[in-house]
Amino acid sequence: MHNIFITEYFDWRKLQPSRKIQVINKVFEKMGLWVRLSPPIETGVMTCVEQRMNMYHLVTQVLVYDVSGDFVELGCNTGQSAVLFRKIMDYHNTGKTFHVYDSFEGLPEAKPEDGDTPYSEGQMAVAEATLLENFKRMNVAPPIIHKGWFDDTLPVDLPEKIAFAHLDGDFYDSIKVSLEHVYPRLSKGAVCLIDDYSDPDVHESWDELPGVKKACDEYLADKPEQVSVLYAGGFSHAYFHKM
Ligand SMILES: C[S@@+](CC[C@H](N)C(=O)[O-])C[C@H]1O[C@@H](n2cnc3c(N)ncnc32)[C@H](O)[C@@H]1O
Repeated sequence: MHNIFITEYFDWRKLQPSRKIQVINKVFEKMGLWVRLSPPIETGVMTCVEQRMNMYHLVTQVLVYDVSGDFVELGCNTGQSAVLFRKIMDYHNTGKTFHVYDSFEGLPEAKPEDGDTPYSEGQMAVAEATLLENFKRMNVAPPIIHKGWFDDTLPVDLPEKIAFAHLDGDFYDSIKVSLEHVYPRLSKGAVCLIDDYSDPDVHESWDELPGVKKACDEYLADKPEQVSVLYAGGFSHAYFHKM
């Protein structure tokens, strides 16, 4: 499978430093400092190419080994990652169904466990229609959409068996409720990919959603699975295999 499509949502020109950043970096250089400013990550881009490579390989693995169960994404937003999953599923001609979950009202309230995250209630609200438009634009079949808060949808709307889960709910409570409902349904060998999990003991990475690691570590504390941290460019990523 050619994997060039992984980059389709990226505007690579935005990765070039602006004139202003170049001037500031020149000043740093003249001052003999080693620090450099990076170009900002494009607003609205939810994942970087390194994360999308991780997704590509993990989804492929589940399909090649024919792990039993369906695909779920908890926190789909406009469907940037969901479209990628669907494309890989289509290439493998899988009969598995794909379910996505989102409030479409943005994030819930942050809790003390979320630390001093810059993210807040209502952020990332998006119309369900935007997700559908993106699937159409990318020429792939739409997923089964479960609109609502995870607390309401997950207890009643998850497939019986899950082969691949993408947890991308950002906050402590959202990840906690995701694991409580998804974990028991994961088949042996299933992959559970967790966005925004940052563990500075393994690798210094983007760490603005500390509630994600806290929720995972607490939930998995008495389970045999261990979270593996993945290199994720300017973001953070981790996963575990269900035993
Ligand atoms: C970072 S975005 C997902 C990005 C998407 N997976 C991608 O990579 O393109 C997080 C999403 O989770 C949703 N979300 C977070 N907590 C939720 C909850 N408790 N119930 C429902 N949706 C939630 C938000 O509405 C938001 O759209």
